[in-house]
Amino acid sequence: MIAKVSENGRRVGITGIGVHVPERVLTNADLERMVDTSDQWIVERTGIRERRIASADEAASDLAIPAARQALAQAGVAPEELDLVIVATSTPDMLFPSTGAIVAEAIGATNAAGYDTLAACSGFLYGVSQAYGTIAGGVAEKALVVGSETLSKIVNWSDRGTCILFGDGAGAAVLEPVEQGGFLGFELGVDAKHGPDLCLPGGGSREPTSTQTVAQGRHWVEMNGREVFRVATRLMVSSAEQLLAELGATIDDVDLYVAHQANQRIIDHAAKHLGLPPEKVFLNIERYGNTSAASIPIGLAEAVGSGQLKPGMRVLMSAVGGGITWGSAFMEWSPNGNGA
Ligand code: ACO
Repeated sequence: MIAKVSENGRRVGITGIGVHVPERVLTNADLERMVDTSDQWIVERTGIRERRIASADEAASDLAIPAARQALAQAGVAPEELDLVIVATSTPDMLFPSTGAIVAEAIGATNAAGYDTLAACSGFLYGVSQAYGTIAGGVAEKALVVGSETLSKIVNWSDRGTCILFGDGAGAAVLEPVEQGGFLGFELGVDAKHGPDLCLPGGGSREPTSTQTVAQGRHWVEMNGREVFRVATRLMVSSAEQLLAELGATIDDVDLYVAHQANQRIIDHAAKHLGLPPEKVFLNIERYGNTSAASIPIGLAEAVGSGQLKPGMRVLMSAVGGGITWGSAFMEWSPNGNGA
């Protein structure tokens, strides 16, 4: 799917953004004591130095709720004003009620519809495009999109090929009509033939939970890292290139690149092939690892917080994840709801 936002249509932008990560830090040195790995290997192959890990009683909604409250405060939007609450996650609190429903209740979004989207690492961009379409079409006025993950709960901590990569966290964004800036276009896709290269096979209707699925370790993330790497490097570039071409834009129109933080080598490869200089590339992977659907909104929140992303700047976002799903969005950053 590729969509150019209509120039005559309603402008929709992000007016508030928030972030929340668990307190516990797991360093590469900690991982050296858990599996056969080294800080040097992890840093060289991924760029990751540490990641945050949720506590035993912390679920996806517990990370999402503070991030959502922060985003609403920055937007100057009251929870009752929300029409839509979407949580993008592969690690919901439970299958149902959805984490979107749980978050809506907790923050007091009493007038909103709430649900989850599952598109793995591309989930935030999928969620944002749904919220955009709903607002641009006049069905809703204000939406909250949260990416929240507790991947530490579905990772096999004895598999060195996956456990070093992932971390927990949440990022949230408020979308509403804006006078300046806003979304310019989206490119989203899925290629399910690569699905088995990154999956969690147990616990669904194909392999319902049983003592056997537990004993066989079917409830952990399974990944063919080399293949995912190969596909991700290609798609991160092609998705962004297609979107910019559709919009009649060039890479010089991009002021900041906030890519899904999966592996620094994937981001470096994409930036190089797209022609983006290092100063336009946002990076925080060394502190958080791959937080899947949370990674782009955490990146946006940190870039706004540090002054790297300011109103009027054009930001390109791209992600590739399980499915294999991918997505890109291009937008001009709007002033927040409080005018800053
Ligand atoms: N520590 C030390 N050695 C390791 C580790 C580890 N943690 N993990 C694997 N190795 C070993 C392997 O066993 C292999 O040894 P061998 O040559 O003796 O067989 C060697 O290191 C090389 O393994 P590769 O898998 O080829 O290593 P690669 O350079 O591909 O890096 C990695 C692995 C980091 C997983 C990489 O493939 C990757 O990042 N893939 C993308 C995965 C990803 O990002 N998934 C997230 C979701 S999708 C997305 O978000 C894009």
